Formats: sequence, structure tokens, C-alpha cells
Amino acid sequence: MMNRIIFISNRLPITVKTGENGFEYHESIGGLATGLKNYHQQSGSIWIGWMGLADDEITPEDSKLIHQQLKDEYKCLPVFISKQEIDEYYYGFCNNTIWPLFHYFTDKSENDMLTWQSYQQVNQKFFAVLETIIEENDIIWIHDYQLMLLPQLIKEKYPQTQVGFFLHIPFPSFEIFRLLVWREEILLGLLGADLIGFHTYEYVRHFLSSVRRLLGLEHNFNKIDYEGRSILVDAFPMGIDYDYFTQDYTEYVGHEIAEIAFQLDSKIVLSVDRLDYTKGIRERIKAFGVFLEQYPEYHEKIRFYLIVAPSREEADSYIELLKEIQELISKINGKYGTLNWMPIWFFFRSFSQEHLIYFYRHADVMLVTPLRDGMNLVAKEYIASRTDYQGMLIISETAGAASELSEALIVNVHNLDAIAEAIKNALEMPPDEKKARNQMMHKRLQRYNVKFWAREFLSTLKAIVADSNQSILAKDLERDSNRIEHAYRYSQKRVLFLDYDGTLVGFKSIPDQAKPDQELLKLLSDLANDPKNTVVIVSGRDKYILEEWFGDLDLHILASHGLWLRHPQEKEWIMTTALDNDWKESVRPILALYTDRTPGSFIEEKDYSMAWHYRKCEPDMLAVKLGEIRENLMGLTRSTTLGLQEGNKVLEVKDSRVNKGYVSSLFIQHSDFDFVLGTGDDYTDEDLFLSLPPGSFSIKIGINSTNAKYQLRSWQSMRRLLNKLVNISKINQVQ
Ligand code: UDP
Ligand code: G6P
Repeated sequence: MMNRIIFISNRLPITVKTGENGFEYHESIGGLATGLKNYHQQSGSIWIGWMGLADDEITPEDSKLIHQQLKDEYKCLPVFISKQEIDEYYYGFCNNTIWPLFHYFTDKSENDMLTWQSYQQVNQKFFAVLETIIEENDIIWIHDYQLMLLPQLIKEKYPQTQVGFFLHIPFPSFEIFRLLVWREEILLGLLGADLIGFHTYEYVRHFLSSVRRLLGLEHNFNKIDYEGRSILVDAFPMGIDYDYFTQDYTEYVGHEIAEIAFQLDSKIVLSVDRLDYTKGIRERIKAFGVFLEQYPEYHEKIRFYLIVAPSREEADSYIELLKEIQELISKINGKYGTLNWMPIWFFFRSFSQEHLIYFYRHADVMLVTPLRDGMNLVAKEYIASRTDYQGMLIISETAGAASELSEALIVNVHNLDAIAEAIKNALEMPPDEKKARNQMMHKRLQRYNVKFWAREFLSTLKAIVADSNQSILAKDLERDSNRIEHAYRYSQKRVLFLDYDGTLVGFKSIPDQAKPDQELLKLLSDLANDPKNTVVIVSGRDKYILEEWFGDLDLHILASHGLWLRHPQEKEWIMTTALDNDWKESVRPILALYTDRTPGSFIEEKDYSMAWHYRKCEPDMLAVKLGEIRENLMGLTRSTTLGLQEGNKVLEVKDSRVNKGYVSSLFIQHSDFDFVLGTGDDYTDEDLFLSLPPGSFSIKIGINSTNAKYQLRSWQSMRRLLNKLVNISKINQVQ
């Protein structure tokens, strides 16, 4: 069966405007909408998004009408947002916080709690609209920075759906991203997706590095294991609808435009952007001024068509930018212009793509000089449109597209002399060289077109979801929980070994915050209230914290991987294995040496073990240090009962006779339990799984391979199962 595809983006491919004769439906501009619209038209997809008007500025009848029209004619489902949300979510958090920060304009980026709250609310709003149509096997593809919390909202409620996310703007380096106040929330929001795509490998690297440094989650071959899922992060450089751009639209183009472009006894330089401070429009105009100054032989023989489409019209920084651009243009036109010649022709309006193609086909040089740009589709559209291979693209290295268009003339946008020189070189480049360079780029654009791009993204998404289903399928308890419930129902004396972190609670970026919530405490207390149950918390954490959290409940607690045991009645800790501490004298100096050399690391001295924590260290430096310290410690522990245990960002030296398996078997051996359950999420729990007697139930949380009999994907599923067991207990007790 074909899965249905649902696109979700802030802006729909159709923008509704109020015109003199009612509502007008225009094609949206901006790379996301223009790039995907043809693919959407041709596939059976549905597109959820905002149509550009505030819902409180139209009547309920009008919104019904718009809803119907968008649905019937464009396969779009609108999300209605209010004037206030447009101010706070769209102009505020999206375009005053994320947009500037992700484009490295740190000074412009504001951290404002009010707009952040609005961002959360509007992401919820998109989720609510999605919920009206969502079905189990849907493929949901979310686009861009306005909806970075949406993947998590979907995954939490609909874990079976396939969720992809694509960012159309740059993902900045960690040093920039860390400046965002809500950085962890944004990363966790994105990690709800199964596949996260970016335009370039550079952005992928930056994202993975931020996830590693801020959340402490490692990656392996671009995969992050998180909450029982494997998330793939990869580069998918967006293509264009190549065939569409290679066609000639002269007959569709009106008289006025055709005349502008045709009255040519001069060379044409062209640029096309939305009005945006990231696009380097000021730098481009100045560079054209430098060109006119340095190469006077081109006076009266060249025109610069500067097309700027209005965008985000109510934002102050965009209004100021427009003024500056106008001033710069009049300066240059005033300085160099003559009665017969105006050097820069400024168009502050948007054109249809057919019109743009007409401009592209007549431009000798295309100037694309963003200060930062996720991709820049205009650069690709220009190359494709020049089917005679006789144009030349000049592009700044800070545009994502530059990494794919290496045969163009690549410039540093801040080097105005170099741009001026590139204009001259482009104008004077021999036709054969132009042809050779353009042909190479055509080949790439033709092959990696937007259809290819979308298909590749979607097939990778399907494969990754199928893979993670496959790896858990054989042991998936979700499909076979009846057996365990049945055994529980008919047993008289049960023991339940429950690991804590990752099994009963989720991943926390700051481990000290992993305190049990009220819902969990109630669940554990309900479980322990069944007289047939012995509930044992088995954790690597120390006895003090576990006692603080669980000391009041009727639970057994095994702390420090089982070294300490606390009975609920005696309320005293006893040591399960006789140990000494003489070895610490030789281990301490080694740990101290590496702590001095590795900023961010620290030693935790426990009663009978020593741990070296490194979660706050710079990860690249750490990789080397970790290898060294391991080797040193292994040399020491080889001939003793000491062992080296590796946990989440921690190395622990301890007596290897103490492990979760050994102590739980001590616990069971003199009792006649007829129901034994062991649960856990990491390798320390594998000892427990191996030591349980035949007929026991062992459950691993997560998709990696395991010695456990069963697997569950997440701690939420584990809680669901325990809740079912509590219900069985309650029913049994009533009967
Ligand atoms: N565009 C348009 N009309 C205009 C100006 C631009 O249709 O008047 C289209 C252009 O063809 C391109 C998109 O808007 O497809 C701009 O995408 P790009 O990736 O270059 O920049 P973005 O606007 O996404 O930052
Ligand atoms: C860029 C962004 C898009 C956005 C477009 C137009 O391409 O990546 O998400 O839709 O600009 O901006 P606007 O704010 O008008 O939607």
C-alpha cells in the first residue's frame, strides 16, 4: 500500500491576499514553497500550512471559503493564526530570533520569553490541525525552522508514524547555536523526527556537534540512538524542477518586460532575491559601484537589473534595509548615470517564475552574493534557464549552493574588489570556457532535480523506519504483551527488577534533573502495594540519592549496581559483597592526572568505586584522552578483581564481582518466585538479563541487540506495561 505524504510548513505554496475584488490566490515565493510546489502538484500529497492572512482579520464565512478553495484546488489544509501570533511567533521568534541567529547575525537575534511561548503554542496549533487528518501509516514531512518543535509533538503521541524534517536554512556552528536560550528544547523537538535533513554536510556536522555537546548524545555514522529509536541525520542538497526551467516562456511574458530585456545593445547583470539582510544586496550594489569605477570601458555598455521581491514587510530591519538599498542605488546612478544610461534598474516587486526565466535567459552575468544562505535556488534556476550555456554565475562561498556549483565564479562577499573583478572576468570569459563550465553544472542539476531530492529523502526515511522496526521486530513486546500479562495474572509470588534511568524515566540532558515525577512514584507505590509483589529498583546511582527519591516507598533498592541493598522494612543499607578500598591509592593519581589535563572532567569517589565523569568535556579533545586513560587503568586492573565499567559519559573503576546480575541472583536464589521480571536499557543491565532463571521475563528498552527476551522502544512503553500490571493487581485483589 502506498503511504500518504503530508507536507507541513509554515508557508503554504499559495498565499492569499485581499484584493479589490475579494481574495486573490498567489504563488508564494521563497525557496521552500517554489521548490516543492511542482512536486506537490504531481504527487498525491496534502500540504498543511499558513496562507498568509490573520484569521481575526477575516470573517468566519471567509475563512470557510478559503479553507474550501485551498483544499479543492491546491490540496492544501490551512492553519489559521491570529494577528498576535503573527507578531509574536512569525515576526517574533521565527524571524527575530531563529532566522538571524541561524544566519550568523547574532546581534539581531533576540531571546524573548513571550515570543518563545508563542512559538510553542503555534507549533501546537499545527499539530492540532495535523491531528484532524492523521492516519497510522502516514509519512509526515515537516519543513523548516518555524516548526522545529513539531516532530517531538507528533512522535510522542503517534510513535508509529514516519516523521521527516528538513531545514531549508543553515544550521549554524555550535558556538553560535549555543547562544539560543531554548537550545536544548529546539534540539529535543527536532529529535522527534526519524530523519533530519540539511542542504549541506557542513550543516549536518554542526547539528551533530550541537546534539553531542548540549545533550550528550553521541552519533555513529550520522545516526543518533535516542529513546529507543535510531535517528539519521544527513545532507540532501535541494534541487530544482530542471525541465521547467529549461523551457522558453517568451510568449507568456508581457510586452513591458520583453522590451526591457530586449533593447539590448548592452550587457546585462542580474540579481534576484527576496528582500533580506542575509542576501548581501548592499554588498552587491557596492561591488557593482567598484566595478564601474575600476572598469570605465563598460560605462553605457552595461545594465544591472536588481530584482528584489518584498518579504516580511512589517519587520523593522527589512524596512530599514529597503531604505539603505534605495540610497545606495541612487548614489551610484547619480554618480555614473548619463542622459542615455542608468546603470542600476531596481525592481521592488515580485515576478512570476516564467518572468524570472525570461530575465535569466537574457542575463550575461548572474550575481548571487548572500552573506549566508541555506541553499539559494535562484543560482540553480539561472544556470538551468541558460540552455545555450553562455551565462556566467558569480556566487559567494557562504551560499549553500556554492558547494555544488564549483564551476561558477566563487567569491568572498566581503571582498568587493574580487566581486568587481569576477564581473569583468565573467563578461569576458571565452564562449568555450563558459560552455564547458555550464555543461558540467547542467548535468548535475538535471540529475539531482527536485523530484530526485524528494524521492531520495522519502525513501531514506522509509528505509530508516523499516530498519529500526526490523531490528526490534523479533522481540517486540508491544506485539506480544499478552504472555507477560497472563503470567503476571496467575502468579502468586513475583519479583520485579526495575532499572531507573532510561527505563522508568526518559533521557535528561542534565542527569541531576532526572528526579522521579509524581506519576512514576504513584505507579511504583501501586505496584509495591500488591502483597504478591517484591519490587526492586536496581540502579548504578548511589544509595543517598536513591534513598532520597524512593526511601518512603515500600521498595527494595539495590544501589551502586547492587553493592548496597536496602529493605523497605529495616530501612538500613547492607553491603552485598565484602570489598576493600586499598586499590584506590594506585587509581587515584591516574584519575587526578587526567582530570588536571582535561578541563570539565571530575572525579567522583564513591564508597567502593571511583568514577571519572567527562560529560562536560570538549568531545574532540576527549576522544584522545579517553583512549589513554582506559589503557592506563586497564594496565592496573588486569591482575585484580577490579574492572573498568563504561557508562553514559563516565568511566568507573570498581570490583567486577559487583554487578546487577550477580546481586539479583543472590536475591532470587533462596526464594520461590513464580514470576521474575528484569528490565533495563544499557549494557550494565545485560548482566541482569543473563543471570535470570529460565522462564523469567527480561525486557530491554531500546532497539539495540540484547540478551533480553523482549524489547520495548521507550520508557513510555515500559510505563504503559507497568500500568497494565497494576490494573491486573487491582482486579485480582477485588476478586
Ligand atoms: N522568486 C519568485 N519571484 C520573485 C523572486 C523570487 O518566484 O520575484 C522565487 C525564485 O524563483 C526562487 C525563490 O523565490 O525559487 C527564492 O528561493 P531562494 O532559495 O533563492 O531564496 P529564499 O527566498 O528561499 O531565501
Ligand atoms: C526562506 C525560508 C522559508 C520561507 C521563505 C519565505 O526560503 O526558508 O521557510 O517560507 O524564506 O519567507 P516567508 O517568511 O515569507 O515565508
